[in-house]
Amino acid sequence: MKRADVIQELIGLIGAKSYLEIGVNRGETFHAVQCGRKVAVDPNFLFDVQQAEQRNKNAVYQQTTSDRFFEKSPKGETFDVIFLDGLHTYDQTLRDLLNAVTKVNAEGIIIIDDVLPSSYAASLPDLTLAERVKAITGEKDMSWMGDVYRLVYFIESFLQLYSYATVAENHGQLVMWRAGRNADDVGKMTSLEVAQAEFYKIVTYRDPLILQPFATILSRIKEDRSRT
Ligand SMILES: C[S@@+](CC[C@H](N)C(=O)[O-])C[C@H]1O[C@@H](n2cnc3c(N)ncnc32)[C@H](O)[C@@H]1O
Repeated sequence: MKRADVIQELIGLIGAKSYLEIGVNRGETFHAVQCGRKVAVDPNFLFDVQQAEQRNKNAVYQQTTSDRFFEKSPKGETFDVIFLDGLHTYDQTLRDLLNAVTKVNAEGIIIIDDVLPSSYAASLPDLTLAERVKAITGEKDMSWMGDVYRLVYFIESFLQLYSYATVAENHGQLVMWRAGRNADDVGKMTSLEVAQAEFYKIVTYRDPLILQPFATILSRIKEDRSRT
């Protein structure tokens, strides 16, 4: 399942009117997604922004880092769906997530990309080091997910008021929505353990990912929304 397909279904499910994407690159996902109001944030768009602005009148392009974007975002600016796919380090994505939590509407959805690194090298937070390891070991797949996987443990242990699951049909998109979890379902890791979780942990201990078919995730969100 493509990133954009997952996002579009979620937009449809909740009738989202606004969409924020952090980390846009060539705009493959951003331009495929249809939504009333769209905001793209990237310090280095890999397309002609002026041309894109002409073509997409409902889209705003902010050529800046996510930190600067959140710094400047007006207090009342909120979004129904937020897709986090910027710098793939735990620290940066955690900051993006905590900012997103304050910017997402109560009934909204946050999606985090790349929570399932494809290899040890791909999970290294330092991109240069990841590329060096791949060159030496002869690993051909140049994907880089960094240590975003640590966010799974953070969400499990520290964001009790969100329910979440990871889409089973693709490379690892975690979907989260506002629906509190029972105290018993909250993870028991310390913040230090989360920050130091090694690659082997996400490979051998997958329960916290809550890998589920996308159809199940949609049903869960629907059910939780019907209760509020
Ligand atoms: C994996 S790409 C995004 C792919 C895109 N979401 C898609 O689905 O086609 C990651 C992007 O994050 C951007 N990026 C890097 N650091 C960033 C930051 N601090 N804030 C926002 N975006 C950042 C990079 O420039 C890059 O274009």
